[in-house]
Amino acid sequence: MIRLRSRHLLTIEELTHDEILEILDTARGMKEVFASREENTRAVKKVPVLQGRTVVILFFEPSTRTRQSFELAAKRLSADVVTLNIAASSREKGETIIDTVRTLEAMASDIIVVRHRSSGVPRLLSKTVRSSIVNAGDGCHAHPTQALLDFFTMREHLGELKGRKVVIVGDILHSRVARSNIHGLQKLGVKVTLVGPPSLVPREFSRLGVEIEYDFDRALAGADVVMMLRIQKERMMGAFFPSIGEYHRFYGLNRQRLALAKPDCLVMHPGPINRGVEIDSDVADGPQSVICEQVTNGVAVRMAILYLLASRL
Ligand code: CP
Repeated sequence: MIRLRSRHLLTIEELTHDEILEILDTARGMKEVFASREENTRAVKKVPVLQGRTVVILFFEPSTRTRQSFELAAKRLSADVVTLNIAASSREKGETIIDTVRTLEAMASDIIVVRHRSSGVPRLLSKTVRSSIVNAGDGCHAHPTQALLDFFTMREHLGELKGRKVVIVGDILHSRVARSNIHGLQKLGVKVTLVGPPSLVPREFSRLGVEIEYDFDRALAGADVVMMLRIQKERMMGAFFPSIGEYHRFYGLNRQRLALAKPDCLVMHPGPINRGVEIDSDVADGPQSVICEQVTNGVAVRMAILYLLASRL
């Protein structure tokens, strides 16, 4: 087992190629704990490896998948779990985020999982507290655990990822998922193409070593994976395209368009989905979609991350 160099997980950029593979390999074993294909192999979908450890879940932004999967991951490792309801917390009385986190740490937390709408909050906290900080998504900046579960899902279907082509489509500008995927996929030797209207896929992204394409149909040629992204209205300050109908016509994934990619091209989406906007229902629910698998794998990957970070404490 490789020991992670940092006690925090803040970005994919800070993980080495080998650390990424270590997390993905560890997640494979974790998945066996709760999603074994062999019937009755595990009546209790739980292991005692984090017994006596405390994991705090701190989400200042809405979430379904990430928050619940971290909570389940910690519970399946037998940790004590505290999930703070921000709206009912002393944050409402004016307490600063640092004081909130220090208060929780005074109750002997080991790992604090944080999501915040402002980029940089997890890093700020990592400099302030002695617990391990895990970034569960900060602003438009990073969502490393989403990227790791995406790699895990790709590997389950495609095996070795080196040389594969992944097309990421949509609101790249506001997407922390896209940023973390770009950095991580490049470490794994994957060719990344970004697609969307110029207002949401600025040319400057090519500095990251990716291809930029404004014609979705052309980009799909030879694609092994097409990753659709939601339009993040909550992060937009103005109008980035004329209408939803217009966006769907040029950048929505439908069956005809998907047929332009490789026949077994995987359809991915981090969720939540806006059906009929970036993806049609028959594609989201179709045979090439692995969207629900991504959610299942999210629990396994987050178990692996909590386990590997706790091993450093
Ligand atoms: N993919 C993702 O981060 O989803 P949630 O916002 O539901 O956690």
